[in-house]
Amino acid sequence: MTVLYKNMLKNSKKLFVDAKKVIPSGVNSPVRYFEPYPFFTKKANGSHIWDADNKKYIDFCNGYGALLLGHRRKEIISSVTKQLSKGTLYCTPTEPEIELSKLIIGNFPSIDKVRLVNTGGEATMTAIRLARGFTKKKKIIKFEGCYHGAHDSVLVKAGSGSAHNGISVSDGGLDEVSKNTLVVQYNNVEDLQKTIQKHKDVAGVIVEPILANMGLILPEKNFLSDLRKITKENNIPLIFDEVVTGFRVAPGGAQEYFGIKPDITTMAKALSNGFTISAVGGKKEIMDLLSPGGNVYQASTFAGNPISVSAAIASIKTINKIKNKLYSKLERYNLLFSTALDDMATDMKIPHQINFTASMLQIFFTNKPVTNYETSKNANAKKFKKLFQSLLKKGVFIAPSQFEVVFLSDAHTENDLNKTLDAYHYALKSVKN
Ligand SMILES: Cc1ncc(COP(=O)(O)O)c(C=O)c1O
Repeated sequence: MTVLYKNMLKNSKKLFVDAKKVIPSGVNSPVRYFEPYPFFTKKANGSHIWDADNKKYIDFCNGYGALLLGHRRKEIISSVTKQLSKGTLYCTPTEPEIELSKLIIGNFPSIDKVRLVNTGGEATMTAIRLARGFTKKKKIIKFEGCYHGAHDSVLVKAGSGSAHNGISVSDGGLDEVSKNTLVVQYNNVEDLQKTIQKHKDVAGVIVEPILANMGLILPEKNFLSDLRKITKENNIPLIFDEVVTGFRVAPGGAQEYFGIKPDITTMAKALSNGFTISAVGGKKEIMDLLSPGGNVYQASTFAGNPISVSAAIASIKTINKIKNKLYSKLERYNLLFSTALDDMATDMKIPHQINFTASMLQIFFTNKPVTNYETSKNANAKKFKKLFQSLLKKGVFIAPSQFEVVFLSDAHTENDLNKTLDAYHYALKSVKN
């Protein structure tokens, strides 16, 4: 193993040995594991995260995209602290839930009504059930490599940890469920059209408008507008899974960024900048099917809990207040960073691709443009692993998989980015060897 693990991270090693005794594989979510063992985190602040051995890293994992505004953002901490003094869970309706719903609807014009849930997976599960309830049809179309959470209908050819661990359909998932999920190639409109023509019982099409779970894959020109056109022509609800892109690429998500209105939207992550909350929203006639008014059942003890709601309100208000500076700054930083990284790898004669947009980027070690599941899978993952380990050694934490994304946050400074470029320079040398 690398020198990093020989001489450092001793406390993390001890904790991992202990964790494995009581937690399956020692982690509570598969993407957190990496070889030989992950570092255990003690604290985080702004753009940094500290491990159990007091090693400090510049954080580009950023809660897998949740921390758009950085760790412990003051507006959010202060809002949550105020709420803590008033109680943590009531399980009755509260006024802030109305305020939050109005804020979401204000930012997302495609949404008439919104229901608050807890995780991204819960939001997409509800969105799919709504689409089925609305159309009274069965089949769902998803795209190869898109990740929509760890539930049966979408855990088919999914990205993220599922692709990283080579799991195409999870053991324990029922064939009866997965056979109702039709998988189509990302960025391939003909494939979608053929699938819709072949199957008359399609209840919905779900898509990540920017694919952030196979590394970063951008929608090609017209892909999303064609998707909208085809689904409309066939009366099929279009679900934009904006769990990553909501608030991250624009205050109104990818649908604002690309100017396309889906029928149903899911969001989580940057919605609350680090608290457990997600949302599913859409047209009134679809959303009103939810129980108790309608017959599409969805329920949760922690849905709309006052702590997460207070975090989400503060988060959206902060984003809306600073939006004119926030998004242009992140795009400028990303352009400078990605261009410098591209030049560096080119100078070092390392075959590579860099995909970037808004505040997200990823490098792939391959000669071919990365535009879908196949081309992402064909990139050299061993080289990526070396890159990750070397970056860690130099105090830069990115998500530990080729199939994740590097996320910038408002807390990153130019100094952080310069240090990170130095770290990439070091790490690319290890990839070359
Ligand atoms: C696009 C997308 N949808 C859904 C999910 C599932 O969210 P959660 O992990 O909160 O269930 C994720 C998680 O990374 C995601 O990236």
